Amino acid sequence: MQAKTMLIASSALMGLMMPAGAMAADQAPTAATIAAAAARADATVRAMKPEEKTVLTHGIMPLPLMPGTPPPPADSIPGAGYIAGIARLGVPALKETDASLGVSYVMGLRKDGATALPSGLSLASSWNPELAYQGGAMIAGETRAKGFNVLLAGGVNLTRDPRNGRTFEYLSEDPLLSGMLVGASIRGIQSQGIISTIKHFALNGQETGRKFVDIRISEAAARESDLLAFQIGIEQGQPLSVMCAYNVVNGAPACGNDWLLNKVLKKDWRWKGFVMSDWGAVPNLETAINGLDQQSGESLDPAVFFADKLAARAAGDKAWAARLDDMNRRVLTAIYAAGLDKSQPQPGGKIDFAANGLVALEAAKQGIVLLKNNGALPLAASAKSIAVIGGYANSGVLSGGGSSQVNSEGGPAVAVPLGGEGPFAGFMAQHYHRSAPLAAIRKLAPQANVTYRDGNYIADAVEQARKSDVAVVFVTKWSSEGLDQADLSLPNGQDALVAAVAAANPRTIVVLETGNPIAMPWLDKVAGVVQAWYPGARGGDAIASVLFGETNPSGHLPITFPASVKQLPRPVLDGYNQYEANFAGDPPFPGAKLSANYDIEGSDVGYRWFARTGAKALFPFGFGLSYTTFASNGLSVVDRPGKGLFATFTVKNTGAREGATVGQVYLTARNGAAKQRLVGFARVNLAPGASQTVTVPVDSRLLADWVKDGWQVAAGTYSFALGEDAEHLQTPVTVKLAARKWKD
Ligand code: GLC
Repeated sequence: MQAKTMLIASSALMGLMMPAGAMAADQAPTAATIAAAAARADATVRAMKPEEKTVLTHGIMPLPLMPGTPPPPADSIPGAGYIAGIARLGVPALKETDASLGVSYVMGLRKDGATALPSGLSLASSWNPELAYQGGAMIAGETRAKGFNVLLAGGVNLTRDPRNGRTFEYLSEDPLLSGMLVGASIRGIQSQGIISTIKHFALNGQETGRKFVDIRISEAAARESDLLAFQIGIEQGQPLSVMCAYNVVNGAPACGNDWLLNKVLKKDWRWKGFVMSDWGAVPNLETAINGLDQQSGESLDPAVFFADKLAARAAGDKAWAARLDDMNRRVLTAIYAAGLDKSQPQPGGKIDFAANGLVALEAAKQGIVLLKNNGALPLAASAKSIAVIGGYANSGVLSGGGSSQVNSEGGPAVAVPLGGEGPFAGFMAQHYHRSAPLAAIRKLAPQANVTYRDGNYIADAVEQARKSDVAVVFVTKWSSEGLDQADLSLPNGQDALVAAVAAANPRTIVVLETGNPIAMPWLDKVAGVVQAWYPGARGGDAIASVLFGETNPSGHLPITFPASVKQLPRPVLDGYNQYEANFAGDPPFPGAKLSANYDIEGSDVGYRWFARTGAKALFPFGFGLSYTTFASNGLSVVDRPGKGLFATFTVKNTGAREGATVGQVYLTARNGAAKQRLVGFARVNLAPGASQTVTVPVDSRLLADWVKDGWQVAAGTYSFALGEDAEHLQTPVTVKLAARKWKD
């Protein structure tokens, strides 16, 4: 059975996709509606009184977190942020909540729960923009139902260092995959009449010293990697707000970086929304003239710069007065484009947690990556005895820490606090979502004797494994905002546990609940490895469904698993053993210095670096096994005059059961010089024996170099290849391209 599909990765396609059980008609703003909103914003700015012009430019954290700060306004909701409105002009207050994975829990201060999507890495492992859209629409529905109108989502920083504590929140090491997915997610969020951010702009690649680390990178390298992920995400998703980052970029703070904000974002990309700061990321008033539009969480900054100080500056300087008008115009454009002046979310809205849980379940299933299977998987439902070991598998599944922490009603099944002091200590706790793999396994193997051992005592676990047909060891590695990881090892002696259990029972399956890539010293001793990431509100069910083959795993790695940190551009994460990480990321003393040289790899992030150095990964970008087999072939890359480059190829299910896989097309060389870049992908679902021919557009920026102030494709021969993953490529095909130069 042959099916031809034209996949046009454009906002037109996104517009055709409605979320399952859409909470409201698709209100996602388009470039046209944003332009119309900007015109309305202009009129409102002209009607503003001088004293109203710094209402929309700064806001608070409506949490009783900070001693000495006044109580939050009566109409605020415990969450991340609150920006007052202007009732006289019909401008509503902005009520902001985190984040990309659902409505955050803020340490239970609201005493309500929300549906947790799986982690960003899990979503990215699906390579499925439609799934991203549906997840975004679902969490936006819950955002509205709780009375918020801004979702601080869209975390899309490239995962340059696998030890970054926020890798779990982000998507991938590749700008195309990250941009397409974050754009779809943002479109889903804004389809519900909610303002979404895209964040953290830009190059926020580590947590150590996050507020003062100076990222050194050439413009070309930035434009071809991290900035391209944002650019594609903005094109695809039309986010109404950008959140600038904590870190410094080439000597200037990201939230006051004229090049990043005024030149790249607002001038080159012609973006019309508003830039909000990260919380505690505003060092001075000058950030306003350098492109920042709104000071968030102002009590975390040295001063409230964007109120009286800003008004005074504008009163005495025409350029500042014009800037202040522009700041208001941008915030108002977002409010009008999202329709917030017409329809205000109210707290107490109904949430269908069962339906929303199904969205999280499907996302988790599609995000699970089968890394190894010597035939032991799927488990036979007829297995007589199964030893389930470790990972709090009797209680729930792990989630990541920090501002993106979501919990269901009733809070976490298990919470392991890290202790420590300060207003953010409450964020530093390992939370397990209420979805126990053990219960889900028992449900799918009712006849089996399924036992559980917590894994804290190796001999105890080994004894149980020895007596069982199969052992399933759950290993966990918690990750959080504010902290990077020392290395790729599993903590708490889990590597030894896995090795001992595998020695006792060759049919040992390891299920990873990790926020990052990890090392696996026991890999050749175990029968199977299932990467479940932080699998969200229904993660236990998703894991069991894959283990027993009810779901055929279809995930493909969005991030390289290095064989060793020695393979990385920076084997030692800058500042890791120099400064004690703290959640806020503040300098340990005034004048503390830290810099990270991203020009080592430049735009060759992740698999591109491995291709350049020839290093072989433990598991490469794009890798993922299935319970069936696939073959892809017939790649052709055609330059259609006036339309651009298109890649066409066919994928066939050559196995005995239905399954999904991801066809991947890579640039491999330009005029004979090796250069690897993902240029296209398509997820396809196929019945046994079926095949599908797909055509995907190839974005020319992925073939180009950034030269001076624009993109350049040199004339010559370009080689492209299909890949099962970034390391396993087929024989390339070549295309002759004419020279091209263009500006953004
Ligand atoms: C944080 C995070 C950001 C979050 C914000 C509000 O520190 O960096 O992602 O949206 O504060 O909680």
